[in-house]
This record gives sequence, structure tokens and C-alpha cells, in this order.
Amino acid sequence: MLYGACYYPEHWPRERWPIDAALMREAGINVVRIAEFAWSKMEPRAGEYDWSWLDEIIGLLEAHGIKAVLGTPTATPPKWLMDRHPDLYMRDAQGHARGFGNRRHYCYNHARYRQLAAGIVERMAQRYGRHANVVAWQIDNEFGCTDTVRCYCDNCREAFQRWLQRKYGDVGKLNEAWGTVFWSHIYNSWDEVVLPSYTVFPMHNPGLHLDYLRFASDAVAEFQQVQVDVLRHLSPDKPITHNFMGYFAEVDAYRLAEPLDFASWDNYPNLHFDKKADPLNSAVQHDMTWGLKRQPFWVMEQQSGSPGGNFIFAMPKPGELRRWTYQAVAHGADAIVYFRWRTCLFGAEQYWHGLLPHDGLPGRRYEEAKRTGEELQRLSGRWLGAGAGAEVAVIRSYDNEWAMDIQPQSFGHSYMAHFKTYCRYFYDRHIPVEIVSADAPLERYRLVVVPHDLLTHPASVQALHEYAAAGGIVVLDFRAGIKRPDNRMEERTIPGAYRDLLGIRVTDYGSLRQEDSRAVTLTKGAPAKEGQGGRIWYDVVELEGAEAMAWYAADYFADTPAVTRHAYGGGAAYYLATEPTPALMDALMERICAEAGVGAITGISAPPGVEIARRTDGHTEYIFVINHAEEPAELRLDKPLSELIEGFVAEGEVQLEANGVRVFERARKQEGRAAEDSVTAPA
Ligand code: GAL
Repeated sequence: MLYGACYYPEHWPRERWPIDAALMREAGINVVRIAEFAWSKMEPRAGEYDWSWLDEIIGLLEAHGIKAVLGTPTATPPKWLMDRHPDLYMRDAQGHARGFGNRRHYCYNHARYRQLAAGIVERMAQRYGRHANVVAWQIDNEFGCTDTVRCYCDNCREAFQRWLQRKYGDVGKLNEAWGTVFWSHIYNSWDEVVLPSYTVFPMHNPGLHLDYLRFASDAVAEFQQVQVDVLRHLSPDKPITHNFMGYFAEVDAYRLAEPLDFASWDNYPNLHFDKKADPLNSAVQHDMTWGLKRQPFWVMEQQSGSPGGNFIFAMPKPGELRRWTYQAVAHGADAIVYFRWRTCLFGAEQYWHGLLPHDGLPGRRYEEAKRTGEELQRLSGRWLGAGAGAEVAVIRSYDNEWAMDIQPQSFGHSYMAHFKTYCRYFYDRHIPVEIVSADAPLERYRLVVVPHDLLTHPASVQALHEYAAAGGIVVLDFRAGIKRPDNRMEERTIPGAYRDLLGIRVTDYGSLRQEDSRAVTLTKGAPAKEGQGGRIWYDVVELEGAEAMAWYAADYFADTPAVTRHAYGGGAAYYLATEPTPALMDALMERICAEAGVGAITGISAPPGVEIARRTDGHTEYIFVINHAEEPAELRLDKPLSELIEGFVAEGEVQLEANGVRVFERARKQEGRAAEDSVTAPA
């Protein structure tokens, strides 16, 4: 297994490098990511290159058995470069240049910057593209981090106009699609079209706004592609990745991941002060990263110390690094790279702590990473390459997310907050899920959940119909089918393109305040059970072939359906007309999962706060039990199981300390079905 750290040799004197390499080796580190911000060290002045330091460090690492991932340095164009091309700075919506002094200050659409980026990558690839010790390339760094996708400069306006011209062909079609007759926005030519920048009131035409968000995301993909092309040409055998951020939504990560060989992401579970992080967040983002290519991924930056810019956030307590690492592995990470090797003595991130503290002496966090690495090297060969065998897909659509971001409709509501209500259910019930794009093949899943499918793209509408007709179970929810892909309202009665699939129509609706809910009962006419209700929104639904599964128990729409089920072909389609409170979600999803035949990971009971996740090659299951709580937990095993970390056969009640991890192994009865609880010999 590749196990490593992010290393910045350019931050340290050369005399320190052999000490670092030796300490890394001692800790079981066999890969480092380097160079992703070092442009001004590679090319100190225009056309003047210095590769001596990079040659030396790659060679030194090689001598210590440590591979290198090379980052292309395009997130940090140097000062000399910016001075030559001042129009390269990205601009905010008010037109202000986002100046020099941090990073990611460039505009993706600047033609000259694309050439300059290709130039430095070409030089790097010529020199290291076939180097035996280079194991992969990382393009740029966290595209879009710190709000750097949406630029409002003149380049972008012109590029947006060209993008629109390609999309619509005729400006009349654009006017029609956006409804520019509203407020006298009719455009006579492409060059009149504006960006959604600063106006008297922040409400742009929703068609224009959504197209701009799509365009801005496409620009990043195009910018990346320039580098992919160079690397494919000069370094054809080395895999390419980019380090994504799971929740980050300004770039369509599915599109960005397409030309890459594997996905990776940067996992910072705790960015709080003295507060425990919710482990759901890392779990969801791991699953999102898995779903980018539906294959194992890397964690390219794994938090290894307290984060800090101007403030210093919570220092991971003993056991937390190991717990976070196992959680990543449990969700499909096949490589872990800690951020960062040593805490820097200077610069904006001098308080962002790595494995080693400022003084460079190995301590608690180093020892923990070392121990974790030893365990993983001993065990991970068993599951590398395997997935979770998930039977549930949750569809993430950036298009819908953008449309909801522009118009959340209910105050304080967000696509992702709603999305996570489903994830929460599956996570708490130990049901593995894949988070995939709307065009992923669905046949392999028993249950497909589609949160907020506003924009009803014809291809996904058809795919969901076909999936249900062939026996699949679909869950759609409020606001599905209300819009056309161009972000105009649908004229058809809600849920528009899904009306036949869902067997309902929506005759009335309203939004609710964040703190409000309406009681919902699972037995018509009976009072709702404690805590069971709907939040954020209510649709008033009439049945057109569907049956009601739950009813509102309050307000003028009491006794009308809040949740419906419609038999469709060999399968069924459910509609949630409101956002279920956790208690209602539990009751509903239990029924829906039962109908779909979706199984939780069985055989182990654990108290809340303990996560159970799995990797399986179809024959054997590796079950990771992770105690995220601050107290010890007691697990109950239905049957004896082999525990791999300590190497014993566990049975009955098993203790798990705070931050503790156990990995159980068992044979799997048959592909895609619930596991058999047979014991395999301990390692
Ligand atoms: C990541 C970024 C790293 C470093 C780290 C800590 O988002 O990729 O370069 O900045 O955060 O802030």
C-alpha cells in the first residue's frame, strides 16, 4: 500500500533532507507528494530553470525507497509572471482583482496562462515524465479551493459569450431559453451578454446564472485538459490525478475526473476549535470520491495535526489520526498521504500542523502514523482494489446543486444539507452506499435515491424510468421535475416528467421556516409519533395511481399524502413530499430498504458513534468497526469472527476503546448478497 506524506523540500535546508528521508522510511512512508507550489523554485525568472533541487530530492527519496507524486505548480504562478501579465488575476463579482499574496490568483480562461501552464508542465514532464521514481502526477491543487472558480474578468465575459454561442447557435434561442423578455434583458448580439456580476440586487436571470456556473466549471476542466494532454504525451505511463474536495461544488468533479486515472481528495475531518468532528462528513466525502471513478481512490492530504491559519484549531487527540486513516481505508482509499510531513516555520500556514512539529523531532503524531502504517502494510493487501459492494446509489447532480444554490427556495436550505439527510440514515444503519453521477449505470443497485432532481435532464429521466421498469426502487423528492434543463419553470403539472413514474400530481405547495416542521403520521388519521414530521417544504399531493405511505397530520393539508409509493413495471417509485425528520426518515427508509432488499452489514451490533463499513472482493468481506466516540464501546457479535489487527477470533461481547478500530474478516455467501457469518482463520 502506498503510505506517505506531503513534503516541501524547498522549505528546508538541503542538510535536513537526508534526515527527513530517513525518518520517513523509519515511519513506513513509501511515497511523498512534492512540488505542487514550487514554480518560483523551478523557474525563478522567465525562461530560467533550476531543476537541481528537484533532481536531488527525487534521487534521495529513491535511495530511501520512497516514490514521488509530482504536483504541477500551476496553483501558484510566481510574481514575475503576474507582473508580466497583470490581466491574469481573477476578478470578483464587483470587478476587483484578487491580487498577489495568497495562491490560486489566476483566471482559468486566460489564453496566455493556459500556454504558460502548459509550458511549465512540459518542462517538468520532459525532465521527470519517465523517471522510475515518479509514481504519479497531480494536476494543480484543489481546483476551486477558497472560492476560485467563478471569475468575472473581461476574459471570462468573452469566453462565456463564446461558450453560449456554441451552446445556442443563435442569440434568439438564448433569449427564448432564458426568458430575457423579463425586465427588458433581450440581447441583440453575443457581445452584449453579461456575467452575473454585481447588480443593484443579487437576483440574476436564473437561466443566465446557471449557464454561467456551468461555463465556469467547464473552464476548469478545459484548463486541466491542457495539462493532461501534455502529460499524456510526455509521460504516457504515469497515472494522473487531481486532489478533489468532496463537498466543494463549484466544479463538476465528475467531469474533471473523467480524463484522470484515479481520483484523490483532501480529508480534513476536524476544522473546528474544541469540538468533535461529525464522522459522517468524511464518510460522505470518501463515498463521493469513490463515486468519481467508481474505483478505489487516494487520500492525497490526510489531516495529521491541528489546522491553522490565523487561528489554531483542534489538535487531533491520541488515536484520531489512526481512526481517520482507517475510516478512509474502509471507504475505499488505497493510498494515504498525510498533510504535511513537518510543520512549516514560515508562510501563511506556519500554524497548519503536520506529522512533525516545528522542531522536526518525531513525537506523538509521528509515532501514531508509524504504527498505523505498520498495521496497514501487514493487512491491506487483502482488500486493495475492493469496493464496498454497495447496493444503494445516491445520485449527486452538480447541475441540481447549482440550481438550488442560486434559488434555495426555502430559507437556509441547501441541496447538500438535504442530500446528507439520506446519507445520515444509511451511515447510521451501516448500509454501504455509492455516491454517483446521474449518468452512472444503475442496474447494479437495488435502490437509487435522487435528492432534489429539479432540472429533469431527459437522459436521467429516461434512465430512472427504465431502472424502475426493470425492477429497481427509486426515491425522488420535493421539487423533482419542476424545471427544464435551461432553468425555466416547467409548464407541466409537478412533478412534470416524473408524473407517470410517481403516479401523483402536486396541486399546492409551500416552504417552511428552518425551525418548523409539520407532523407526519404513518397511519392515516392517527396522531403522528413523537418526532416524526416533515421539514423545509410541503407538497400537497393527489394520487394518480400511487398509494400513500404517510400523511400530514397538521395544517390545512392534514390527511393528504406526505410520502407515496407507485408500482412501476417490475419496480417502484417513492416520492417524499417533504424533508423527513430523522425519526420519520428511519421509519420510511426501513420500509423502502426492505422492499428493495437492501441489507445493512449484519452480524455486529454496536452503540451509536460506532461506524461499520466494509470492503469486499465478492468472496471475502473486511468489516471495519470504528469507534468515533470518546467512550469505549461494547460490540456484540452474532457469531465468532476473525479480527485481523490483533489476530484473534472474537466472539460475543467485544470491547472497543475510544478511537479504536477493529477489522473483521469473513467469507461472503454470494456476490451482491448478505454475508455468511463463517469464520476464516486469523492472520
Ligand atoms: C489544502 C491544500 C493544502 C494546504 C492544506 C492546509 O486545502 O490543498 O495545500 O493548504 O489545505 O490548509
